[in-house]
Amino acid sequence: MRQSAPPKTYRVKSFGCQMNVYDGERMAELLADKGIAPAPEGEDADLVVLNTCHIREKAAEKVYSDIGRLVKSGEQAGKKPLIAVAGCVAQAEGEEIMARAPAVSMVVGPQAYHRLPEMLDKAVHGERATDTDMPPIAKFDALPQRRKSPPAAFLTVQEGCDKFCTYCVVPYTRGAEISRPFSDLVAEAQRLVEAGAREITLLGQNVSAWSGEDGRGRAIGLAGLIRDLAEIDGLARIRYTTSHPADMDDALIAAHSEIDKLMPFLHLPVQSGSDRVLKAMNRSHTADSYLRLLERFRQARPDIALSGDFIVGFPGETEAEFEETLALVGAVGYAQAFSFKYSPRPGTPAAAMDGQIPREAMDERLQRLQAALNRHQLAFNQASVGKTCEVLVERKGKHSGQWLGKSPWLQSVWFEGDAAIGDLVQAELVEAGPNSLAGRLVQSVSLEPAIS
Ligand code: SAH
Ligand code: SF4
Ligand code: F3S
Repeated sequence: MRQSAPPKTYRVKSFGCQMNVYDGERMAELLADKGIAPAPEGEDADLVVLNTCHIREKAAEKVYSDIGRLVKSGEQAGKKPLIAVAGCVAQAEGEEIMARAPAVSMVVGPQAYHRLPEMLDKAVHGERATDTDMPPIAKFDALPQRRKSPPAAFLTVQEGCDKFCTYCVVPYTRGAEISRPFSDLVAEAQRLVEAGAREITLLGQNVSAWSGEDGRGRAIGLAGLIRDLAEIDGLARIRYTTSHPADMDDALIAAHSEIDKLMPFLHLPVQSGSDRVLKAMNRSHTADSYLRLLERFRQARPDIALSGDFIVGFPGETEAEFEETLALVGAVGYAQAFSFKYSPRPGTPAAAMDGQIPREAMDERLQRLQAALNRHQLAFNQASVGKTCEVLVERKGKHSGQWLGKSPWLQSVWFEGDAAIGDLVQAELVEAGPNSLAGRLVQSVSLEPAIS
């Protein structure tokens, strides 16, 4: 590898889940601390970090086509960008990337990216480096303080997964479940609020497995953490994602009726409505136990918006089993959801199971499932019309005077009028589409979350 000039500009491209978005922001902060500036929109960067996702085959393959594109566009411009591959593909396929893509000079796993600055110094001198160590918490201690925040910020509180669903790579790419210490989280949340956050989404691959000790040494779970964070002045909204049905406790359910700042939204992946498939997936719930759990959340917070994840075409899934998934969807009435075709992942038990489902059957099932989910999403949005609620303004719209924000139920709301990014405005929801709603500004700035 030849020597390069120290990079002046960087770009971090994050794929996959919100935890990758959080990690991407932290890597950007590390690079900014080294005096490297974000590359202007539309311009090639001297250093590109591809923060990758390994969850499905398509997502993982994307990294190689992206590297090819970067090399090509660099050649056209007479430049050779420094390329770092981070994230879950880096963790899972570090060696392979180094062998297959000579243009890559740094491979850094999700638990090691605090070492990116040192690796960069080496890369500038022509040394390629891979770091996929998994020290449980060292990364967070080594990261710089938060200085900037969008109105809706992410805060990783928990990492890793011990659940080992038979289709999933996350326990291998992110390691065992760990919780960040309470005091670090309170400090980071406070700084995010000082830097402009009005809403914080607590993140974890299994966020509901978070546990720790509060300021007085008492053992607490996620609900206790939310309760303490809700005390932060200036923080108006708290969300959390992603939860696992096995870790949901009474305290978290109660938190939804007791803590105003906790938004009425729950993302609780189910994956399938068939108990046989759920068992083969090593999910610890049944369709019925999942529905009963949701019912308890609805009792605690009747307007709660529900969201889920689904996989169609898991090995051996029959038509009748797929229809059980459709039945579950009908019973829940999700406000939104994500659905995927099963993708066999190397090294996971399901990849070696009999009964892999042909692509056409998977396509057809996914279409039917998504048609049902889309109907429910539209119905949920339509049922919101006429409500007046708080909208957190996140960005400008396409036209002047137009703004885009989020309702308490995580719906995108467009409205026009006098507002600014970061405002909490009162808006009446006047028209519903499948993916967003139109709102009418009722009052431009309010500070306390309130829903009518
Ligand atoms: N920890 C979370 C999210 C994990 S990944 C959870 O347990 O719910 C996000 C979603 O990707 C999963 O919920 C699942 O629906 C989907 N997914 C994971 N592995 C997959 C695979 N091999 N093929 C297709 N979808 C997958
Ligand atoms: Fe993957 Fe299951 Fe863990 Fe979620 S709970 S990250 S789907 S292994
Ligand atoms: Fe993808 Fe890793 Fe997140 S595999 S979904 S980026 S945990």
